[in-house]
Amino acid sequence: MTVDVVMLPALIGAGELAGREVVVFDVLRATTSMTAALAAGAAGVWLFSSVESAKLARDKEADRPLLAGEIRAVRPEGFDLGNSPGEFVADRVSGRRVFMATTNGTKAILACAAAGAEHVWVGALVNAAAVAGRLAKTGRPVTLVCSGTVGRVSLEDVLGAGAVMERLGEIGSVEPGNDSAVIAAELYGAMRGDLSGALRRGQGGKNIHAVHLDPDIEFAARLDSIDVVGLARGEPWVVRRKDDKVTR
Ligand code: MLT
Repeated sequence: MTVDVVMLPALIGAGELAGREVVVFDVLRATTSMTAALAAGAAGVWLFSSVESAKLARDKEADRPLLAGEIRAVRPEGFDLGNSPGEFVADRVSGRRVFMATTNGTKAILACAAAGAEHVWVGALVNAAAVAGRLAKTGRPVTLVCSGTVGRVSLEDVLGAGAVMERLGEIGSVEPGNDSAVIAAELYGAMRGDLSGALRRGQGGKNIHAVHLDPDIEFAARLDSIDVVGLARGEPWVVRRKDDKVTR
């Protein structure tokens, strides 16, 4: 299986995603939180590119979906949930729709949609093995897209891509399709012994530490701790557990 890595959504080439399985990583924290939400029984995660658009959409819905997200890593005023994966527990989210807007992660998935992805898998360290299992079943070439942080490459997202490459390699043969894939695989191989420490070395981890949310880093570093994979489809773009029936 050929695997490409794209270090930032802005680097997705025209037509590059056609006919490929696409995975987006925002390890700190959006894709980790989406995965946690689905594992805790959320009905789905509706994706928005801004907190304002998420709030406007939520206010029109009779079932009052939960609003989740962050601005500069902190829960926006009036939101039910921030972007800490540990907040997405069954007591809060089971059976509920979650409308989410984050600085990079939700936008990265929507950017892949705009670039022609048929659907987008939600990847993180916490579900690296589960993602690899899903990808292997498709047999199609794969593009792993790192969300980055406001236009800059993020260490933790590249590690997420490298982790999925390693898990894919344990299932079958993996051929890096571009230099970014080689970089991701090598970086992961060098840092996998201490993923929590690795996440703390990146700017994303420093940002989370600065707002005293260190447990989020520990959560995000728990490799293969969740056996759930979200799949985003449009329109509107919603992330649901892959095996869930689409009801709305
Ligand atoms: C994002 O989507 O930009 C991140 O998840 C930011 C965060 O850590 O909350």
